[in-house]
Amino acid sequence: MEASMPKRKEPGKSLRIKVISMGNAEVGKSCIIKRYCEKRFVSKYLATIGIDYGVTKVQVRDREIKVNIFDMAGHPFFYEGTAQLCCLIVVWRITPVTSEPQVRNEFYKDTQGVILVYDVGQKESFDALDAWLVEMKQDLGPHGNMENIVFVVCANKIDCAKHRCVDESEGRLWAESKGFLYFETSAQTGEGISEMFQTFYLNILDVCEHGGKRPATNSNASFTKEQADTIRRIRNSKDSWDMLGIKPGASRSLFSPACLS
Ligand code: GTP
Ligand code: MG
Repeated sequence: MEASMPKRKEPGKSLRIKVISMGNAEVGKSCIIKRYCEKRFVSKYLATIGIDYGVTKVQVRDREIKVNIFDMAGHPFFYEGTAQLCCLIVVWRITPVTSEPQVRNEFYKDTQGVILVYDVGQKESFDALDAWLVEMKQDLGPHGNMENIVFVVCANKIDCAKHRCVDESEGRLWAESKGFLYFETSAQTGEGISEMFQTFYLNILDVCEHGGKRPATNSNASFTKEQADTIRRIRNSKDSWDMLGIKPGASRSLFSPACLS
């Protein structure tokens, strides 16, 4: 499956896109969306029940984009099956528009953009990002193709510097090795939020204007998978031996030019 084509794609005409938020409970998904759409921050935790749905309009370059935002609950309770999950859609509207809500049985289908959020002070929420991608891939099925979906990773709650345990390089490496956008954000202070959404929508527009395919020049990947794996292995090494991938006490002869050739 390719990222679905916009209904109208002539320059200057409006587009309709679907974006979804994903990530563990309490990482700040709803607050990021609220900060951008309503310019406010709610410090009290109000867990999303099922999915919150909203519609907003944004202007990107010469295009008006109608964005259907599906803000998902991160609690595992809601992920026993997407069918049950769709029964729990709560509809809200950011700006009133005349379009009808687009609620589908296969929840992840026809998504043009994903906001993938973790809390920089909660390692589990970062480690869980892979599982979120697996969940999406499973839902899209064997013919599903996530390559043309724009993903943005939000390393959220950067205002809580004292509790930070996932540093920028680790988050950025994970995101960029997958070709995803990466932003450091704080829904509380607003840092990084507008920049993140602007870049996210620009990238989605680029994909839509290229017939639902990611333009060749639009690759955000800084590392190949092999390079990223090597960097990750080095970062996780317990000592210099481990870093070099050799056993403690290995002799110098191992490094002779003959051995390396
Ligand atoms: P679920 O709906 O349960 O999946 O959670 P969520 O990911 O939508 O989290 P939500 O946006 O409801 O935020 C959870 C808690 O974190 C709330 O108490 C927010 O006030 C707080 N929070 C969200 N973003 C930030 C942030 O950038 N900084 C700080 N300090 N707190 C934040
Ligand atoms: Mg929420």
